[in-house]
Amino acid sequence: MSKIIALNWKLNPESIREASVLLSHSDNRNVIVFPPFIFLPLAKNKLKKSGLGAQDVFWEEKGAFTGEVSSSMLLNSGAKYVLVGHSERRKYFNETDEIINKKIKSAIKSGLKVILCVGEPSDVRRMGLTEAKKFIAFQLKKDLDKISVKNLIVAYEPIWAIGTGKSDDPAESAEMAGFIGQILKYKHKISDPKVLYGGSVDSKNVRDFIGFKEIGGVLVGGASLNKEELGKILKQI
Ligand code: 13P
Repeated sequence: MSKIIALNWKLNPESIREASVLLSHSDNRNVIVFPPFIFLPLAKNKLKKSGLGAQDVFWEEKGAFTGEVSSSMLLNSGAKYVLVGHSERRKYFNETDEIINKKIKSAIKSGLKVILCVGEPSDVRRMGLTEAKKFIAFQLKKDLDKISVKNLIVAYEPIWAIGTGKSDDPAESAEMAGFIGQILKYKHKISDPKVLYGGSVDSKNVRDFIGFKEIGGVLVGGASLNKEELGKILKQI
């Protein structure tokens, strides 16, 4: 099964010119690019092989919601995927599991493929993998409440591994990915679940993660903005 390399640009880069350069280095059949909303039409034009997604979505379709972007706007701009529940949105924008649940429902209804991000904070992980699994299971239960869908992807991103240069132990994240996969399969009836790992993935460790059958790919932040690193990552898949 081919592995997914999802590239989350977060709040980068500053200009259309820089975005164009990054896009030309990202175009690969295994890649899904998640640029800021404003670069979606550009990415749609430039990418011939990669998938395209947005970093967030609002749950209403239209109306008086200043600053928000709807599922149909994303679809009409060329996005087929959307990230929901990234820990940075949970932290800086106070997104609760209830909000995330509403966003997933609306995105799925309009035909977007959702990548739901989950992950435990460091104080939970310090108590061990079993505690972390309980935390993740509870997060999934709340985020996916009353949702039935066949093709949802989950990205396991331990919060303490994001942007810190301290990635998770690949064997432990594979165990967690396997655990999440079982929940998706048996509780949510997703027959062929895909679970990605994210958190300080770079060209040096990407193979350690995608080498595990439980890990369906990676969600890359910082390294996706450096074209040399990106080239090295893509060479290894
Ligand atoms: P880094 O790869 O920069 O740790 O970010 C991971 C991430 O948050 C991807 O969504």
